[in-house]
Amino acid sequence: MGLSIRQVLKGKTPKPSLVILGAGGLGKVAEQIAKHQGKYEVVGFCDDKFEGMTVENDQLLASFEEINSILEEPSCVFVIAIGNSKIRSDIFNRVRIPEERFVNVIHPRAFIDTNVTLGTGNLLMPNIVIHSGVSISNHCIVNSASVIEHKSVISSFVSVAPNSTICGAVEIGERCFIGAGSVIIQCLSIGEDTTIGAGSLVIRDQPAHVVAYGSPSKVIKESY
Ligand SMILES: CC(C)(COP(=O)(O)OP(=O)(O)OC[C@H]1O[C@@H](n2cnc3c(N)ncnc32)[C@H](O)[C@@H]1OP(=O)(O)O)[C@@H](O)C(=O)NCCC(=O)NCCS
Repeated sequence: MGLSIRQVLKGKTPKPSLVILGAGGLGKVAEQIAKHQGKYEVVGFCDDKFEGMTVENDQLLASFEEINSILEEPSCVFVIAIGNSKIRSDIFNRVRIPEERFVNVIHPRAFIDTNVTLGTGNLLMPNIVIHSGVSISNHCIVNSASVIEHKSVISSFVSVAPNSTICGAVEIGERCFIGAGSVIIQCLSIGEDTTIGAGSLVIRDQPAHVVAYGSPSKVIKESY
């Protein structure tokens, strides 16, 4: 007979129990960030590579099919740690976890100004700077050492890869992927589902559903 989530959580601390969706490299990074944050007890991972619900080395390992039984335990909260923006969004739609059960996992060395609007389910890495008036919606990843300048708007499921610079008042559409080390100058908009290649310099608005890269960044192909 399979384990129940109650059995798995028995004896854990009174902190909310964080279940990380995605057990790949980014999932492991999220686990470490959550430990540094200190607000949640990381109880384990959900991923397609697991079957049913098991415990290994004191960690819950469950398939996405087990989400409903995990949700029955009110102390469980969630974050999606999958780097590909589209797959992250697909997993969100598949698991049907209510938005209020997601939490922000934030490294203590992330600088987030007091007037930043932050949704939920975001994964915010060390040494990022998010300045005055920025809005970050839900399930975004802002990776290490990236800078998001004043009043930029980051829509849901956006991934900002390490060391990127998003200047002031930039608008980035849902499920965009901004490649490592990219620079997007001020007041531009990037349409939804667009990928900006690593090391790009973006100096013009970019349309939706394309892959663009280079310096200056040019549209290379449609994405999907
Ligand atoms: C833009 C990107 C998605 C394109 O991927 P792709 O479609 O598989 O492209 P390919 O690797 O087949 O390369 C096709 C051509 O584009 C060039 N190219 C690819 N990415 C480029 C980039 N970022 N800048 C400049 N040229 C690039 C390649 O050199 C190749 O040129 P060639 O045909 O003359 O040899 C990918 O290269 C990229 O930059 N991804 C972001 C990676 C990243 O930031 N990861 C962070 C993880 S935390």
